[in-house]
Amino acid sequence: MRIAIVVGSKGRGSNMSAIVDAWKGGNIPADEVTVVAPSAESPAAQLASDKGVSVRVIDPQTGLLQFVEDERIDLICLAGYMKKLPADVVSALRNRIVNIHPALLPKHGGQGMYGMRVHESVLSSGDRESGCTVHFVTEEYDEGDPLLQLRCEVREDDTPETLAARVLELEHQAFPEAIRIWIHRYGQPGRNASL
Ligand code: GRF
Repeated sequence: MRIAIVVGSKGRGSNMSAIVDAWKGGNIPADEVTVVAPSAESPAAQLASDKGVSVRVIDPQTGLLQFVEDERIDLICLAGYMKKLPADVVSALRNRIVNIHPALLPKHGGQGMYGMRVHESVLSSGDRESGCTVHFVTEEYDEGDPLLQLRCEVREDDTPETLAARVLELEHQAFPEAIRIWIHRYGQPGRNASL
């Protein structure tokens, strides 16, 4: 079982970090975890290097498919990578790319819904709960089936920042758990997943 974590070019890398820590702690049954970063200078890439994880600087728009084939990657985790992947990449890797979104999809998702905008949207909607969603990646933003959702309350006195912090804690539990679910469902440890 080989996993690639794709971070953003300016990503902070906290989800990447949670996944790597879970793997190193023996809580994700994978043989290899590699971080794919569009830029070597991003905080996420630096953090991954500091953790001793192998980092590959690749533009996912052009180089992801070749990398996945060359390295026999089973599962690709988008952790702060905000751009839409090309349709041919999504199609070639159907059910093998997952993303994390900081709200309960299908609400508060879609193009332009990232960062504080998501939490502002939740607060202005009057929703009493929020959370995070790990979902399969399709050709459209935030539309794939959910693999796992975790929920938290929205408090009367929440600001976008306080809500974001509560949701982020959930994200760090959800991503490793979603990966375990994926491996249980689709992967055979030690072998390349065939879906
Ligand atoms: C997270 O909020 C995630 O839900 C979204 O991008 C953010 C990435 O944060 N997709 P980090 O780089 O993992 O800290």
